[in-house]
Amino acid sequence: HNLSVERVGAQGMDLAAELAANARKLEAARDSLVARKSNPEEFLGWMDTPEDTEAVREVLRYRQANPWVREFVVLGIGGSALGTQCVHAALGQGPVRLHIVDNVEPEPIQELLRSLDPRVSLVNVISKSGSTAETMAAFLVFRKWLEDSLGEDWKRHVVVTTDPARGLLRPYAQAEGLAAFEVPPAVGGRYSVTCPVGTLPLAFAEVDLDRLMAGARKANELATGPIGANLSAQTALVNERLAKKGMNICVFMPYSTRLRYLPDWFVQLHDESLGKMKDKQGREVRVGTTAVRAVGTTDQHAQVQLFREGPHDKLVTMVRLEHPTEDLEIPAVKGLESLDYLFGKSFFELLTAEAKATAHALAKAGQPNYTVTLERLDAYNLGWLLQHLMWQTAFLGELWNINAFDQPGVELGKEYTYALMGRKGYERLAQELKSEGVE
Ligand code: PA5
Repeated sequence: HNLSVERVGAQGMDLAAELAANARKLEAARDSLVARKSNPEEFLGWMDTPEDTEAVREVLRYRQANPWVREFVVLGIGGSALGTQCVHAALGQGPVRLHIVDNVEPEPIQELLRSLDPRVSLVNVISKSGSTAETMAAFLVFRKWLEDSLGEDWKRHVVVTTDPARGLLRPYAQAEGLAAFEVPPAVGGRYSVTCPVGTLPLAFAEVDLDRLMAGARKANELATGPIGANLSAQTALVNERLAKKGMNICVFMPYSTRLRYLPDWFVQLHDESLGKMKDKQGREVRVGTTAVRAVGTTDQHAQVQLFREGPHDKLVTMVRLEHPTEDLEIPAVKGLESLDYLFGKSFFELLTAEAKATAHALAKAGQPNYTVTLERLDAYNLGWLLQHLMWQTAFLGELWNINAFDQPGVELGKEYTYALMGRKGYERLAQELKSEGVE
């Protein structure tokens, strides 16, 4: 995996010099993350999930025991859905259709229910906390739908993924005798794609989980190794240095339609982890850069105008593949000779030229950018990339001296929702909201 930093103009940085100047700081960040890993309170369990081959075997055994499944429905939101959505779009295959319910807009849910045959549907309710209102509401609806159509057999059509102890889903699954998988306690939602939150749906989508995990393990190896070969530490440093120079927006732009949901997953990981009001010592700091989604080449014909000529307050991260999985030759057509520069070339050549051209055009305009290249899009490389981005986020959290593994702002929104919906125990909060004019 390569990091190629384009010439980034006056507002850019000299990576080699910055690395030399900051090597100590990065080593300290790495060592601190590794040392804290064994403390469950630190929520660093995502470093270990790719090493847990038994958890993968358990998921694969369950998949094999349920060959009747044709429709796999994920009920989950945020970290309980986005990793699956990203990997599924990139690598999913086979006869099982995946549906993700991650919102509570009634119409799409009604439409999905009308389109599904309950006899071949498996509903995977995924919630680490076992209490998120959107997921629980969807579960109530899907559970009733299954019971109404299948009677007692509904239980065979539900599988629960939740914390081993916390929340209401775990005791419910036990009481009803439902199949259940664990979200390890020390793994937070947006860091959970390599545990059963992601691996169970992805097993039904025939993603090669062993390779996905092997790629993630490789990222672990690099991120815990020397800084000179530590891409995660390096990209974190680029982000930190440039944020200091006013690059407060970080655009994440893979050149791949198959990777179109990777920016969505990254936006959640980056923004929810790094947008923080307090530092680790509780002092007010207000840090964070805003991650923005883009997909090449599509957004070359949209946002790139702004990236190049608008305010240079951005750092653009591109992801590019070195080899296609399958290429397509552009044929020569008589009568269209003015297009002869395309004749005989391949789509992948064009895609690569577009990515390189954009990187260079941005650099020439003084817009910092760098490109992470993957050898090809497969389970190994995607596993590596996801885990690398988790490490990058963790390193940035260390550089900004904030906790990248909590989400008090998100939790507050959940609590306000409970209060507005009349949940027991939230009466005082409901009163407070009423006095502030919200009801
Ligand atoms: O990263 C996080 O912690 C959140 O985005 C959660 O994934 C999201 O809020 C869903 O939470 P839960 O899995 O507890 O339902």
